[in-house]
Amino acid sequence: MTEGDILGHEPIGIVEEVGEQVTHIRPGDRVVVPFNISCGHCYMCERNLQSQCETTQVRDQDKGAAFFGYTKLYGQVPGGQAEYLRVPQAHYGPIKVPEGPSDERFVYLSDVLPTAWQAAVYGDVGTGSTVAVFGLGPIGQMSCRVAAHLGARKVIGIDLVPERLALARKYGVETVDVSTGNVGDTIRDLTDGRGADTVIDAVGMEAHGAPLGKAAHQLVGMLPKPLAAMMTERGGVDRLSALHAAIDAVRRGGTISVSGVYGGMVDPMPMMQMFDKQVTIRMGQANVRRWVDDLLPLVTGDDDPLGVQDFATHRLPLSEAPGAYQMFQHKEDGAIKVLLTP
Ligand SMILES: NC(=O)c1ccc[n+]([C@@H]2O[C@H](COP(=O)([O-])OP(=O)(O)OC[C@H]3O[C@@H](n4cnc5c(N)ncnc54)[C@H](O)[C@@H]3O)[C@@H](O)[C@H]2O)c1
Ligand SMILES: [Zn+2]
Repeated sequence: MTEGDILGHEPIGIVEEVGEQVTHIRPGDRVVVPFNISCGHCYMCERNLQSQCETTQVRDQDKGAAFFGYTKLYGQVPGGQAEYLRVPQAHYGPIKVPEGPSDERFVYLSDVLPTAWQAAVYGDVGTGSTVAVFGLGPIGQMSCRVAAHLGARKVIGIDLVPERLALARKYGVETVDVSTGNVGDTIRDLTDGRGADTVIDAVGMEAHGAPLGKAAHQLVGMLPKPLAAMMTERGGVDRLSALHAAIDAVRRGGTISVSGVYGGMVDPMPMMQMFDKQVTIRMGQANVRRWVDDLLPLVTGDDDPLGVQDFATHRLPLSEAPGAYQMFQHKEDGAIKVLLTP
């Protein structure tokens, strides 16, 4: 990060002004803005790979589409934790949502819901599937709910934070606490001895339970900034415990869908196990705009099948953001999702 960077990539707000080529929204409209910035008409966008948009690709970093509120790795575009937000490619990105229902209804269309939806669809979740979801943060919680909505017959959620496990159980998820024994064996016990048809990794490289990885992570934290950035991207802050557990827990011929973010390139992978089990792996940033038409009806009606209305655990003024970040990182006060009001 550089001093002055503005964070935030899950914004909802009211349009103040539009550029002359922006015709689908006008001042006064309520919009939610996808976290990735995409043009809607390039080679990638036409193939529903909006997170790889060729108009906004961050080529000097060899990365995909730019997104809001991140470091220079993804374009250093000022983000949404601010009173005003400038929205590039606004002829395509912003999604107009109805007046009336509270922000909570729609705000997760910017990231959490499309990410969870893509995780399930890329994982081939369908009627009768068994699905194991590693990590029960916002992405994992919603992945569980989406999997059930798409017809999964059994959803198993894995985490180590008691209130996150409890929240998943409220939605009919069978839960496994990673800190109590061999997760792979437990998942096989719950799936006729085979392992899950689909495993969703909603943890990423900040997994708990990889002591070497933790040391590497802390070491990177102590390096001078340019070196730390290089280590994160090239050397790897190797914390693969969740991904390796996913490879163990998936059934033969099953699919692992990775929405958790990974970095690094020196990580050993169990290639023989992956090959022998005939595993399919899909991954990547969510192609947000691709899934909006599927999701809008689910958040608009009164029945709220995905439980978005009560999803946020905290709503705070932007001035309290530093404390909120600390609370979220340390998983204090039951924090799962925090909404900031500028
Ligand atoms: N692909 C995308 O477009 C996209 C979008 C949003 C977020 N993400 C990524 O998805 C991941 C999850 O996001 P989040 O907001 O839910 O984060 P989060 O930190 O709230 O959730 C991660 C959860 O994983 C749990 N966990 C840690 N180690 C574990 C282990 N070894 N086994 C099982 N569970 C473990 C943690 O206790 C936590 O509850 C992050 O890597 C995030 O960057 C990706
Ligand atoms: Zn594009």
